Amino acid sequence: MFSVKKSAPANVDYIVRPSGPLRGEIRVPGDKSISHRCIMLGAVADGDTRVRGLLEGEDVLATVAAFRSLGVEIDGPEDGEAVVHGVGREGLRAPAAAIDLGNSGTAMRLLAGLLAGQGFDCTLVGDASLNRRPMRRITEPLARMGARIETADGGTPPLVIRARDGLAPIGYTTPVASAQVKSSILLAGLYANGRTCVTEAVPTRDHTERMLAAFGAALTREDASTREGLPSHERAPAGEGSRVRIEGGGRLAATEIDVPGDISSAAFLLAAAAGRPGSDLLVRGVGVNPTRTGILAILEQMGADISQSNRRTSGGEPVADLRVRGTVLHGVDVAPALVPSAIDEFPAVFAAAATARGATRVTGAGELRVKESDRLAVSAAGLAALGVRARTTGDGGMVIEGGTMSGGEVDSAGDHRIAMAFATAAAAAPVRIRDCRNVATSFPGFRTLANSVGLDVEVVDAGG
Ligand code: S3P
Repeated sequence: MFSVKKSAPANVDYIVRPSGPLRGEIRVPGDKSISHRCIMLGAVADGDTRVRGLLEGEDVLATVAAFRSLGVEIDGPEDGEAVVHGVGREGLRAPAAAIDLGNSGTAMRLLAGLLAGQGFDCTLVGDASLNRRPMRRITEPLARMGARIETADGGTPPLVIRARDGLAPIGYTTPVASAQVKSSILLAGLYANGRTCVTEAVPTRDHTERMLAAFGAALTREDASTREGLPSHERAPAGEGSRVRIEGGGRLAATEIDVPGDISSAAFLLAAAAGRPGSDLLVRGVGVNPTRTGILAILEQMGADISQSNRRTSGGEPVADLRVRGTVLHGVDVAPALVPSAIDEFPAVFAAAATARGATRVTGAGELRVKESDRLAVSAAGLAALGVRARTTGDGGMVIEGGTMSGGEVDSAGDHRIAMAFATAAAAAPVRIRDCRNVATSFPGFRTLANSVGLDVEVVDAGG
């Protein structure tokens, strides 16, 4: 019923020509964060997990391949459908070779947590971008649980994970706002002999918690929505955003999962439509988990006209249809508290700010420096190359003076989100964007979909 797909490795540039308003009715591919997690949890669950709407981007395909190499049978994905034949909590097997997670930080950090307590050695490797990304943020807390994980000098991949016979639980307050760190510890916590607790000052995306609950894990949460009902000794101290506890040793039960459309992918088109008068774009079936909707809040503060309809819950995740009507946006000061819930959408925010009226200031977004690229530096350089006044600031921020974006050439630094942000920006003349092949990591079909709503993106061979 299913076949295994391979993708073409050649690099590409985009040539983007000026276009008018965005109009139409579309769906975007499945949520990347949720797609990774359903493969991972399905793999160690008892029984078959059936997934619909799975993102077939390279990052998720790397996770699929990783679990196959760990002895898990996975049918598909094909047309977003996959069946993960769970091997149970003790069923993973030593892989024959190092596991290559390509460009995916989520795959590496979450997998490291899941593999930290297994009875076999394994090595996780990545591409040039992933090999620059910080891993001590996970190896330190995992070491406190008894994991033995070696990194390269500087705390970067590859990760060599040594066999352990189970782990010890910890209580941990994350020093950086990171769902990957939280999730890595929670997944390790499944293999700990007791209760593991993670506290976050500002809540980050909570897909791991929601999905663990859907798989029947013994998990309790305390955040703004649950604080009232808890006895005082169980409450997170005032000012702390959220706390989650997981009991180790439990088993997960297979389930069915419908993956919603990825708001991080929708964001490029929503932002583009929002700032172009005459646009009317409907994106159906987008995940609107409140830990992810910072982009909607920011665009609305900029004056965007966005409405939600058909709100429903699917697989424990809120979903809605989002309609944007275009207008002229104005610059804003983005509150630092909004940063975690819009962390992947800043390239799109920067692109919108570049042609908005007035200045946009972002602060407290230093995490953008350690994404697939240094998104503050790469965005500022790209904007400057197109004649936009943009500068990074020392507080992990950016100041952009809105105005006109000219044509020219931009380097995406191999970062999928930088490439898509510039491809959807409203430049007044053609723009060539270098190094766009990694768009396939998160948004297969981006060019076709973007052009179907009125953009003009051409893909040209860049060799390599
Ligand atoms: C993700 C968490 C975020 C985000 C990434 C996906 C996840 O990373 O940027 O694209 O799926 O948990 P951090 O946890 O490093 O902020």
